[in-house]
Amino acid sequence: MKSRWQRNWRLLSMLMALALVLTGCGKENLSTLIPQGPVAEKQFFLMVLTSSIMTGVFLIVIIILTYVLIRYRQRPGQTGIPKQVEGSHKLEILWTVIPFLLLIVMAVPTVAIAFDLAKEYSNKDALQVKVTAHQFWWEFEYPDLGIVTAQDLYIPAGKKVEFTVTSADVIHAFWIPALGGKIDTNPGLTNKIWLQADKPGTYFGKCAELCGASHALMDFKVEALEPAAFDAWAKKMKAAEAAPAPTATAAAAQGQEIFRKSCMGCHAIGNEGGKLAPNLTNFAERHKVAGIRDNKKEFVAEWLTDPQQVKPGNTMPNLHLSPDQVNALVEYLSTLKVNQ
Ligand code: CUA
Repeated sequence: MKSRWQRNWRLLSMLMALALVLTGCGKENLSTLIPQGPVAEKQFFLMVLTSSIMTGVFLIVIIILTYVLIRYRQRPGQTGIPKQVEGSHKLEILWTVIPFLLLIVMAVPTVAIAFDLAKEYSNKDALQVKVTAHQFWWEFEYPDLGIVTAQDLYIPAGKKVEFTVTSADVIHAFWIPALGGKIDTNPGLTNKIWLQADKPGTYFGKCAELCGASHALMDFKVEALEPAAFDAWAKKMKAAEAAPAPTATAAAAQGQEIFRKSCMGCHAIGNEGGKLAPNLTNFAERHKVAGIRDNKKEFVAEWLTDPQQVKPGNTMPNLHLSPDQVNALVEYLSTLKVNQ
C-alpha cells in the first residue's frame, strides 16, 4: 500500500515539476502562442483551429469509449459471448461524413492562408535581408543598405521584412517564434519568408533543425526598432563599417594588434577582414556573446580562452592566448560600438 502511495506521489511531483518547466514555454517574445506580428497571428489562428477540432474529436471518442466499456461490461453471472453485430450503414456513413467535413473546415483556411502569405512576397516596400546560417551562428546582410552583421538582427517595427535564407554548411532552420516561421536554410539553395513585428521590442530567434553538437545553442536576437531609430542605426552601422572608430586605450590598441594578426583571417570589423566568422563591427552592443551568454567581459574572456568548451563543435579555434593577450582582446572588443 505504501509503495503505491510513494509511486503516485513521485508521479505527481514529476508532473508538477514538468508544469513548472513548461510554463517557460509561454515566455513573451519567444512563443508562437503570443503572436507579435501578422504572419504569427495567422499561423496562431490555424494552430488554435486545428487543436480545438482535434481536442473535440479526442474527447468525444474517449467519452463514447468510456460509456461503452461501462455499459457493456461483463456482469456477474453472465456467460458466453454476447450477440455479435456486424455492419451498420447509418453509422458508417456518419463516421465517414463527419471526419470529411472536419477536414474541410481545417483545409480551407490552411490553404487560403498559405496562398495569402505566399502572395505577399517580392513586396517592393519590404526590407530585404539575406540570412546565412553557419555552425553555429547567424549572418545578416542588408543588400540594399550595404550592411553586414551577425547574431543580433535589427528590423524596423511595423514593416514587412523579406528574408532570403541559405546556409554556409549544413541544413539549419530560421525561426523567430513570436513573429512566425519557420523555414529551412539549405546549403546551395535559397528559401524565402517574410515576417513583421508589430511593435518595437526584442524577440528571440532559434535554429530549428538539428545541425550539430551546438544546435541547441544556435540562438539569435531580433531588435525591432521604430522605423526612424532603425534608419539611424543603419546609417551609423554603414558609417562604422566604412571607417571603424579609433581605439582609445593602450590595452585596446594592443588588442587590436592581436586581432589583426590572429583573428582577421576569419572575422571582419567594418569592411576589413574575413567572412568565415561573425562580423564584429558592433560587437560591444550585442546582447549576447556566441549568441548564448550575456555580453560581459568575463564571458568574452572565457570564450576567447576556450571556445570549444562554451560551444562544442564550433569552428573557432583555440588560439592558446596568454591571459594578457585575452585581456587586451577583451578591451579592444569592448570598444566596438556603433552608437558612440
Ligand atoms: Cu543550426 Cu540547428
